Amino acid sequence: MKKDILSLLDLEVDDFTHLFQRAIQLKKRFNQGISDRPLIGKSLGLIFDKKSTRTRVSFETAMIQLGGTPIYMSTQDTQISRNEPAEDTARVLSRYIDALAMRTFDHSLVEKFAKASTIPVINALTDSFHPCQILSDIMTVIEVKGGYAGKKIVWVGDGNNVANSWVNAAAVLDLNLVVATPEGYGIPDYVKNSSAARCSSKGANKIVFTHDPAEAVKDADVVYTDVWASMGQEEEQSKREAAFKGFQVNRELLSKAKPDVMVLHCLPAHRGEEISEEILEAPGAVFWDQAENKRHMHKAILETLILKTRY
Ligand code: CP
Ligand code: NVA
Repeated sequence: MKKDILSLLDLEVDDFTHLFQRAIQLKKRFNQGISDRPLIGKSLGLIFDKKSTRTRVSFETAMIQLGGTPIYMSTQDTQISRNEPAEDTARVLSRYIDALAMRTFDHSLVEKFAKASTIPVINALTDSFHPCQILSDIMTVIEVKGGYAGKKIVWVGDGNNVANSWVNAAAVLDLNLVVATPEGYGIPDYVKNSSAARCSSKGANKIVFTHDPAEAVKDADVVYTDVWASMGQEEEQSKREAAFKGFQVNRELLSKAKPDVMVLHCLPAHRGEEISEEILEAPGAVFWDQAENKRHMHKAILETLILKTRY
């Protein structure tokens, strides 16, 4: 059976644990100069319909370092842009490559690809979810905080694709998650409901949704933010800037959190909007380690799905 990662609800607790452990192990071995090349002869297709720096390059370098070959395809350069059905493209690519990472707008497109493919399909960001981002982010929490159990993790900002994946993760891993969004920009009901359905008696039922960022960050161990207007929402920028007043992660807001609070941002960041320059450039900031961990986590994901080490 092939395994896809379209949202974090596709994973069980054991899958998360395996990926965290393996990514941390692969990172350690890489830093010791040990070359792990289990994917020699394998290839990863990347179909990207939106811009990317980190996700694209970290998947590509992950594949190369594991001995495999990445093949990047901008949608515009494929027959998809000339309306070849997703199902046909998926069936053909399944005959050439060993896994496919996709970044696109409508989440239903990655679902279509996954259904028609015989190879693993990995969501590299859709309008709805960014699952691999949160996998590497929790890896960073584990490294810096020693674990995620009992840590108060607070989302401050838009109820977007990254936030949705945090809600999914919280449901499966029973995280102590608080989500603070402006009114009208909250987590969509379908994400709340599917997450709540996934957890037993705890998890998503315990996630706190609020419109008060100051209250939310009280005693936080981790504060996470992301841009106010995501890719595809550029024309809403000024309307959103007005709606998100008071939601900037800055020194004043963070004074309510624990003194050793860790601030995360998936990047790219808009300095002076969702996060102040001072916080982004603070000594000891972990944003760059957070970005690096994407490569290590993507290695663990690729190895696990392509070699079917767990499925
Ligand atoms: N965090 C992230 O996904 O960045 P990119 O858009 O650069 O891939
Ligand atoms: N929410 C952002 C994340 C970018 C990595 C976007 O979708 O543009």
